[in-house]
Amino acid sequence: MADKTQAGDRTEANEAQIAVHWKEEQYFQPSKAFIDQANMRDPNIRTRFGEDNFPDCFKDYADMLTWSTPYDKVLDTNNPPFWKWFTGGKLNASYNCIDRHLAQYRNKAAFIFVAEPEEDPPVVLTYQELYIRVNEMAALLRDFCGLKAGDRVTLHLPMTPDLPITMLACARLGVIHSQVFGGFSGHSCGSRIEDSGSRILISTDAYWRSGKLIDHKVNADIAVQTAEEMGQHVDKVLIWQRYPGKYSSPTPMVKGRDFFVNDVLKQYAGKYVEPVPMDSEAPLFLMYSSGTTGKPKGCQHRTGGYLAYVAGTSRYIEDIHPTDTYWCMADIGWITGHSYIVYGPLLLAATSVIYEGTPTYPDVRRPWRIAERLGVNIFHTSPTAVRALRRLGPDEPSKCNYQFKHMTTVGEPIEPSAWRWYYDEVGKGQAVIVDTWWQTENGGFLCSTVPALDAMKPGSAGPALPGIYPIIYDDDGEEVAKGSGRAGNMCIRNPWPGIMQTIWGNDQRFVDTYYKRYCKNPQSKDWRDWPYMSGDGAMQAEDGYFRILGRIDDVINVSGHRLGTKEIESACLTVPEVAEAAVVPVVDEIKGRVPDVYVALSPGDYKAEEVAARVIQACDDAIGKIARPRHVYVVPDMPKTRSGKIMRRVLGAISNGADVGDVTTLANASVVEDIRVVVRDQNAGGKPQG
Ligand code: PRX
Repeated sequence: MADKTQAGDRTEANEAQIAVHWKEEQYFQPSKAFIDQANMRDPNIRTRFGEDNFPDCFKDYADMLTWSTPYDKVLDTNNPPFWKWFTGGKLNASYNCIDRHLAQYRNKAAFIFVAEPEEDPPVVLTYQELYIRVNEMAALLRDFCGLKAGDRVTLHLPMTPDLPITMLACARLGVIHSQVFGGFSGHSCGSRIEDSGSRILISTDAYWRSGKLIDHKVNADIAVQTAEEMGQHVDKVLIWQRYPGKYSSPTPMVKGRDFFVNDVLKQYAGKYVEPVPMDSEAPLFLMYSSGTTGKPKGCQHRTGGYLAYVAGTSRYIEDIHPTDTYWCMADIGWITGHSYIVYGPLLLAATSVIYEGTPTYPDVRRPWRIAERLGVNIFHTSPTAVRALRRLGPDEPSKCNYQFKHMTTVGEPIEPSAWRWYYDEVGKGQAVIVDTWWQTENGGFLCSTVPALDAMKPGSAGPALPGIYPIIYDDDGEEVAKGSGRAGNMCIRNPWPGIMQTIWGNDQRFVDTYYKRYCKNPQSKDWRDWPYMSGDGAMQAEDGYFRILGRIDDVINVSGHRLGTKEIESACLTVPEVAEAAVVPVVDEIKGRVPDVYVALSPGDYKAEEVAARVIQACDDAIGKIARPRHVYVVPDMPKTRSGKIMRRVLGAISNGADVGDVTTLANASVVEDIRVVVRDQNAGGKPQG
């Protein structure tokens, strides 16, 4: 929805078009010390996982799991592109993450929880303790909530161990968890409750963020109300307490609907719940992600293939050993956290750190103090965090006595200068770095160096992972050759075990979004005819390394988090004075990209400043603070084609200080100059005019 009356052209300002290009960099080699201890040292790995051995190569990953019934077929391609992995097999995710480790690792730390208030000491959850808590919670979900395999449950939890305990308790029963990022608004949560058909919401009273104990219960009430308005009734709201036994929210509990988890759990003390053997293809969880239309997509991930893929990639790419202390600073509410804070590390019996708060609280040295105190040796974060930590405290890492062997970057392109700081200062010149490219839809990494085998090249995500065969297509479906210096649409030719099964409740949208564009023959049952389209622009260098330029669609990647421009525009249009809204990505020094909003108002006498404030509030309410625009420009009119389409390309160019190109074909070319003046005045410190 570009405006309140007509659809606009949506493909005119995208991230790949405003990508910053950097020159080819020198290679960096992994140290001998790293190589000597690495999980994957076989130089033939890519041949072993090559097309001649596909799909059986992925047995290697499936063998990292414990199956209660062995699978009989690796890949079933009977109904493209709805691939089936490890069919006939049965397994339970919770059993694989916990029970099977007890004999050897019972009292080893599974999670170490670091609260934001620094005076609170770290809390260790051993595998034994996790086992007890997950069983009790599973009993509660089954007997108090009446949940059974295949039901969906929405979680809206912040970064405390209550979140993985709840996820694993669901998985123990075969209940499909759908965790909504804790920073999303109650409204966002409500629409995901409705889409998934959850009748139970699991939330919390409060959590710490930047020194404040934030009221989160209020979001549960908004979520339930939103879901009800959309036609989905919620029977029960379970509220964890940040401080068990104490209620930390000013928002009242609703009698008969809301229950404190810590109270109810007492009835289930010491209960054991038999892990339910799930079909390999049974959905494990939903993870909503933004797309081209306003409605977020419920990416549905399967049990067997997903777990196999995160186990394999955690072992070979993250180089996780059971003896490692691994800290991924992402939020479990994103796919990175599901795959590489919870499932991957636990499948390998590692120790995974959960940090509640802001990395720079109370000061920028905090992450490095945590690393020193816990003896973290594998570190995983986003370029946005790297840039922020560098800007605020370039010398801080050297002041703390930790040593990483391995570091990851994920979520956005990392520019070579930030990469070098990460390598020199955070890694102290000794840690290997993997720049991992993948998406919510993918389950796990798709491009990265294999850390002991491939040289690192700053600014490039590296070659494809073993068993992944990418191809770059141009708009006409022709292959863009490596080393050609040209960019195109990044696609993957083959299925892999981590790929999502479908979009929850919308098979057609799944096919249309990812497969329709480059499908060679819709009747074919041969996977070679069904390349997966990622939605990213990319280039491949002569050496085979991929450089990801950014989204080619209407998605903006803010601090490595995906936001749909259409979702933001819809939020803006809820403000009554706003007649038209257009959102464009803008390059930001820290966050990579941020949204700029342009609005044109309906006739009337309004104060631009007040409307702009309402637009910002509307974005906060509809999506969450993460979607907050950098600027709201109130403009006299939108630049439009003669057929009435908003030219986002022009707005994107103005926001990014770039050349607007040829505007002579616009229906209202003179407005471009007016818009430029609005933008210039506002950026010079002026208030929105109007
Ligand atoms: O544009 C790509 C970018 O993040 C998008 C996926 O976002 P999301 O589904 O939220 O998952 C983020 C974590 C996996 C991609 O379409 N992206 C992700 N990793 C990289 C990246 N861009 C460049 N380099 C990366 N390493």
